[in-house]
Amino acid sequence: MNFLQLTFIIKSKFLYKLGDNMFSEMIEKDAKTIVLEQTAFLKVLFGKLRDENTNIEQFRFAADRIIYLLLQRGFDFIPVNPKMVHTATGFDVDACEFSQDFCSVAILRSGEAMEKSLLDLWKTTILGKILVQRDEETLEPKFFFSKIPKDISKRHVFLLDPMLATGGSAGMAIKLLKEQGVLEEKIIFVTLISCPEGINRLRREYPNINIITACIDEGLNDKGYIVPGLGDFGDRYFGV
Ligand code: URA
Repeated sequence: MNFLQLTFIIKSKFLYKLGDNMFSEMIEKDAKTIVLEQTAFLKVLFGKLRDENTNIEQFRFAADRIIYLLLQRGFDFIPVNPKMVHTATGFDVDACEFSQDFCSVAILRSGEAMEKSLLDLWKTTILGKILVQRDEETLEPKFFFSKIPKDISKRHVFLLDPMLATGGSAGMAIKLLKEQGVLEEKIIFVTLISCPEGINRLRREYPNINIITACIDEGLNDKGYIVPGLGDFGDRYFGV
């Protein structure tokens, strides 16, 4: 963080310039960590998502749109083969088809909210689940349940969790995927809001996974929530 950013934070503890990703300087940058381009459209969506007065309909709308953009970027990691197609006007044109299978694994409960946009992008995606919950005292994750495809080691995996906070749950989910034979290179971790702590931890523990995030926030408060963040994603998306 440079001097200007620091004075900005000290002067206005509760005023953040949303969407500028000034905290992206605090992560160990590499080609496998992708932060979406901060377009005006994305900033509008984030404004809605972060506003405490946003109602459930607006929250779902903004979240779904951002998740769609993230996943669309994530599809660039699925390998393709060239293919020729014949058009209705009589031409042969170059096209592509996916050359490897993929699936998603949602980290319950919030990750499930990301499945809608994935199905909007690719209707037949197989949807796996992992239930890892963090112990509210230690903030460390505990594994409860998983249901994932038997042939997951042959697939690329979109690992879904909208908020990357400490990185504990995501780390445990990645460990489980690796135990099932999934290569780190084939894991595409997709998250709306992340923070330096979470990204740096995943990078240290799993250097070869791919991470796609829409925004990097300042850090964590003493309850393990991302700040400025948006509060509890699951509560706001599911309404309960
Ligand atoms: N999960 C959330 O829903 N919000 C946070 O800020 C961190 C984890």
